[in-house]
Amino acid sequence: MENFEFFNPVRIVFGEGEVGRIGEEAAQYGKKALIVSYKDHAFFSDLLQTIEGTLTKSGVQNLSFYEVTANPLISQVRDGIELCVAEKIDLVIGVGGGSAMDAAKIIAAGALTSEDPWNMVVNRHDQVTANPPEEALPLIMIPTLPATGSEMNCCGVVTNEETAEKSYVWSPCLYPKVSIVDPSLTCSLPEYQTVCGAADTISHVLEFYLNGFYDADLNNRIQEGVILTVMENIFKVLDDPNNIKARSQLQWASIVALNGWSQPGDAWTPMHQLGHVLSAHYNIAHGASLSIIMPAWMKHLHTRRIDTYCQFANRIFGVDEAAKSPDELALEGIDQFESFLKKIGVPTRLSDVNIPHEDIDKLTAAVVKISFNEEGKLSSRPPVDQNDIRAIFEKASS
Ligand SMILES: [Fe+2]
Repeated sequence: MENFEFFNPVRIVFGEGEVGRIGEEAAQYGKKALIVSYKDHAFFSDLLQTIEGTLTKSGVQNLSFYEVTANPLISQVRDGIELCVAEKIDLVIGVGGGSAMDAAKIIAAGALTSEDPWNMVVNRHDQVTANPPEEALPLIMIPTLPATGSEMNCCGVVTNEETAEKSYVWSPCLYPKVSIVDPSLTCSLPEYQTVCGAADTISHVLEFYLNGFYDADLNNRIQEGVILTVMENIFKVLDDPNNIKARSQLQWASIVALNGWSQPGDAWTPMHQLGHVLSAHYNIAHGASLSIIMPAWMKHLHTRRIDTYCQFANRIFGVDEAAKSPDELALEGIDQFESFLKKIGVPTRLSDVNIPHEDIDKLTAAVVKISFNEEGKLSSRPPVDQNDIRAIFEKASS
């Protein structure tokens, strides 16, 4: 075990129908709320109207900022901050997937400082030291997509459209006060978003399983539990989108995947650094970027942590250890994982999302510029270098 500190103060209200509590919860934190959600919200506009009405009935005046897109932009965040300040907002409510919740977080922090929100962001190509926020307006989250776990962590991801950089703000002040997690809200999700969310959830634990601490028995068992829970329940949801029991399992798994329980003290998410570059340059869904990167990463790097990959093959897919060499065992696990991703309908190759092979040098350079550390490596266990990054993109295109 490594030494670590652990802190997570988020109160979770979980269950079907619990969204009805938004009024009483919000009233505890102020009289005027900004609701942050998507520009394109046709498939849950009824929910937004219900939330607005419930808040009003509870005496919480509310304004809507429905301007966020998938892969939220720093310009959208700046607009939200301006509205927050002009309207003297008391609390911010994020409604939607990770993009809406993350934008809500950075808006809530930006409302209390004159600092430009991009200056809060770490891993920028200008290498200026980030200035994370120390305070934020109270935050309440109502997730509608099981994926990012943003409802129970203190991270907010944002894209700078001027520099094509996607990175994140991380600060304890971004922990929501409460998150109302109502799995019935996810039943109307389009299928593609559902499967991309499943891939994202798996990626969050796989990051630490494959690239995190070496000596992490309990962490690994929690991570395996998340992966198996998603793999079992995603097919039930694909068979019946209104299967609330399966929806509930996916949603709780997405929260546990990234609330710190399975990775206390660990922080690096190297596969995400490659995925962020794909999303920043081609605006592809976050989960889709990870479903492309994960198998390629695993194929290229499995020999450097062969025991980890053998454990993955055996415990996740039940591959028999006795009859195979470690390399065969690891590769069979990766092969079965890739087959699972294809079966649920997420992309696994750059060409699946129309990213041309000739862009690999550009993508590699972007990862080096944005995410490499002072030693000229991408932080991971073990670290990876520029040649590795190029090779991983090559594997993702073959
Ligand atoms: Fe993610």
